Amino acid sequence: MESGSVCSAGRVGKTYSYDEIESMANLIRGKVSIKPEIGIICGTGLSGLAAKVENPEVFSYKDIPNFPISTVEGHKSEFVFGHIEGKPVMCMLGRFHFYEGYSLPELTIPVRVMRLLGIKTLFVTNAAGGVNRDYNVGDVMIIKDHINMPGLSGNNPLCGPNDERFGPRFPAISKAYDPKLRKLARDLADSLGYSSFLREGVYCMVSGPSYESPAEIALINKVGGDAVGMSTCPEVIVARHCGLRVFGLSLITNKCIMLGDEETDEEANHKEVLEVGAKRNSAIELLFQKLIAKME
Ligand code: HPA
Repeated sequence: MESGSVCSAGRVGKTYSYDEIESMANLIRGKVSIKPEIGIICGTGLSGLAAKVENPEVFSYKDIPNFPISTVEGHKSEFVFGHIEGKPVMCMLGRFHFYEGYSLPELTIPVRVMRLLGIKTLFVTNAAGGVNRDYNVGDVMIIKDHINMPGLSGNNPLCGPNDERFGPRFPAISKAYDPKLRKLARDLADSLGYSSFLREGVYCMVSGPSYESPAEIALINKVGGDAVGMSTCPEVIVARHCGLRVFGLSLITNKCIMLGDEETDEEANHKEVLEVGAKRNSAIELLFQKLIAKME
């Protein structure tokens, strides 16, 4: 199937063929000795996990022709291969966002590359705003489901040609966040004493880069969103399409201002997001280490 630009009236943008993705994976495979089983996408401010990788082999995105480069503060642009708890992993330091101007097929290239490199499970992390009124800054939310706002309005990463070697034209997105891994993570978080800040909820994606208006937060709250962020759903959809098992965590870095509480002087800002990430990093890293050690 040819690559190209699809649907000039819509937002599909540039798409990538199986062969193009395969050649990226082949390039990496030729230069890295690890055969990863777990892929980890490190979200904004959550790159500390890569420091836990033993005997790391680092592969820069810029050495992969046509691979995107992260333009956001707090994101590097490299894969880190190695072992965590004896299991072969690859961490993605620097993810791509729709608001950077990347097409959805483009920003999800790494998921398909990881799949072709052999991963079976994808961990995703992100920084998110707390929409649920009970959530506090510093809470960690296991993602149980998502609302892909851009997808509901015509921006789905699977728009464009479908190659069955990746997956079916119409994939199901129910149980996208693996129930067994979620249960294991809840149990492990309990035993680590995390119950005061552990949550399980629905992640809602918006395109950004502007933060949401109070009326938009009220809308997201009404339709069942517990946290809101600008990433993750495209990667999870593409991961499920190609048969990967997914586990996701959101770090609540700020409380969203909802219609009715605009009198507060608080405003979401990127500096706060990075600071909260730095504080909870070690708790999240430990949970991931335990999860990797225990999962089958
Ligand atoms: N909104 C959207 N994305 C975010 C937020 C938010 O409040 N916080 C961190 N990422």
